[in-house]
Amino acid sequence: MSDESRPSPAQTPVAAVIPAAGRGVRLGPGAPKALRALNGTPMLIHAVRALAASRRVSLVIVVAPSDGTEEVKSLLDAHALPERTDFLVVPGGDTRQESVKRGLDALPPEYGVVLVHDAARPLVPVDTVDAVIEAVGAGAPAVVPALPLADTVKEVEPAAEAGAPEPVVATPERARLRAVQTPQGFDRTTLVRAHETVTDDVTDDASMVEQLGLPVVTVPGHEEAFKVTRPLDLVLAEAVLARRRLNDGF
Ligand code: C5P
Repeated sequence: MSDESRPSPAQTPVAAVIPAAGRGVRLGPGAPKALRALNGTPMLIHAVRALAASRRVSLVIVVAPSDGTEEVKSLLDAHALPERTDFLVVPGGDTRQESVKRGLDALPPEYGVVLVHDAARPLVPVDTVDAVIEAVGAGAPAVVPALPLADTVKEVEPAAEAGAPEPVVATPERARLRAVQTPQGFDRTTLVRAHETVTDDVTDDASMVEQLGLPVVTVPGHEEAFKVTRPLDLVLAEAVLARRRLNDGF
C-alpha cells in the first residue's frame, strides 16, 4: 500500500512493535530479561497484554531473542490474550535499534501508525497507550510519554574506571528536562525513514526522528511505566501488581 492510499493517522490500524531481544545483564544472570517472571507471568506477556489492552491496537509484533523465537511463540500460545489482536514473532538483532528495525520490516502495509514499546516496561497503563495513539492520530509524527524528574541531573566527564570520581561539567535546568518512556508512537512513514536514515547509536526511537529535523511531542507518562532494569525494579513491579490486585478486589 502506498503512503498516499493509507487512511489518515486517526483512522489507520495501529500496530505495536515490542523489542524483547535484550539480555538484561544489569538484572543479573539468568534468562533474557523479557522472559523473566513477574508474579509467575513472563514480563513480556505483561507487556504484550498492556499494549493489546488498547482497542486501537490490532497487531502486536514481538521481537524475540534470535535463539528464542519458538519459545516466545509458545509463551504467546500458552497465555490468554485478546482475540481481536493479531500476533507475530520475529528474531531480534544485536542492538535495540536493529531489533526495532526487524519488527518494522515485518509490518503489513495497511498499518499507518506504529508504537514501539520496551518489553522491559511491562506495567504501562492502557490510558498512556491510548494517549500516545491519540496524539499521533491528531497529526504528530512522533509522540513520547514523558515525566518530570525528581532528581537533579549532572552532565559529567565519564571516568574510564567504574566508581572513579567524575568531573561535573554542567547542570541542566531540571524544570526543562523530562524522563521519557514507551510506548513511543509514530506515523509509520516517519519511523521507517528514521530507521533507514539514522545510523548512530541511539537509546530511543524518537531521537532518530529528531535527527531528521521533524517535531517530536510529549504526552504525560505514568510512574507505573518504569523500565525494569535492576533487581530492585523487579520488587517494585511485583508491588505494583499486588496493589492492582488489591484495588481490583474492591
Ligand atoms: O537495554 P535496554 O533496557 O535499553 O532495552 C530496552 C528494550 O530493548 C528491552 O525490552 C530489550 O529486550 C530490547 N532490546 C532488543 N534487542 C537488543 C537489545 C535490547 O530487543 N539487542
